[in-house]
Amino acid sequence: MNVTKTTALAHSNIALVKYWGKRNTQLNLPAVGSISINLENLHTTTSIEVKEHLKSDELFLNGNPAKKHESERVRSFMDLLRKKSGNKIFTEIISHNNFPTSAGLASSASAFAALSLAASCVFGLQSSKEELSELARQGSGSAARSIYGGFVEMKKGSRHDGIDAVAIQLAPKEHWELRLLIAITSESKKETGSTDGMKLSEKTSPYYKGWVKSSTPDIDEMRSAIYNKDFQKLGELAEFSCLKMHGLVMSSRPGLLYWNGTTIEVIHAIKELRRRGTAVYFTIDAGPQVKAICLPKDTIQIKKELEQIPGVKKIIETPLGGDARIIGGES
Ligand code: DP6
Repeated sequence: MNVTKTTALAHSNIALVKYWGKRNTQLNLPAVGSISINLENLHTTTSIEVKEHLKSDELFLNGNPAKKHESERVRSFMDLLRKKSGNKIFTEIISHNNFPTSAGLASSASAFAALSLAASCVFGLQSSKEELSELARQGSGSAARSIYGGFVEMKKGSRHDGIDAVAIQLAPKEHWELRLLIAITSESKKETGSTDGMKLSEKTSPYYKGWVKSSTPDIDEMRSAIYNKDFQKLGELAEFSCLKMHGLVMSSRPGLLYWNGTTIEVIHAIKELRRRGTAVYFTIDAGPQVKAICLPKDTIQIKKELEQIPGVKKIIETPLGGDARIIGGES
């Protein structure tokens, strides 16, 4: 191994068909497949350096030493690389998000995708994209999708060892120019993270089985909406999958509600825009921010309308992004 320091960048992504639930927690195998788009303006940059004197990995997030639970999650992820490479080295990891993490925007997807790429490099693993996606999945399910740019499908897979639970690129970003407007409605941290939320839904929701069973047709339809560039179909399905996931989440016991009042106001505003003839659809992850999906020509008008809603703190606009990539390295 000759590379001892490297830097990788990965974009965040937003699911159009949602992942919620696991068929194996140990390997982090999803219970359902998912489809996402990769976001250009939201990314994580991760530098990793081998340090001979370290007895465990050290993690810095956005300029500060990471919290205990964050370090633990990353250390057990790094153990996977030590095991895979047979190399017992420890590293210093410095990670930055260019988007507000306090705003509850998903960061684990871009973070574990960037870390998978950078860490594979310093551990001397010549990993293919598929292997990187498999590795990233073990850090966070949605991270498997952030290895690729554009339109991405995460396969649920059927094998026990999980090697077929990986993402593939359906189409590069150039295939179809879409825009995303993210309405930030709260900057406080959510109470229940996705991993715990999923566990609760699996254990307690009477709707869980139906959720798992009904996901395959959503995937098939979304794939064809993307290939055929059918925006109405893409939007309607994205809203369906989003509301179905939140319905599942709300039907857990105790019920989880990731939305605030402004989340609902933004949903109504998007529906109203549509009634007036503008093609725009919403999707929402495990948090209160609303992501409006639209075509480039309508971006300015939609942004203007959403900005005016009381409670919307700001709007982040982004086109689709590219693959995770190495952006720097030293020997
Ligand atoms: C609502 O990928 O954060 O954003 O695998 O437990 O780390 P873990 O979960 P995570 O879950 C993402 C859930 C979601 C939907 C999605 O991105 O598909």
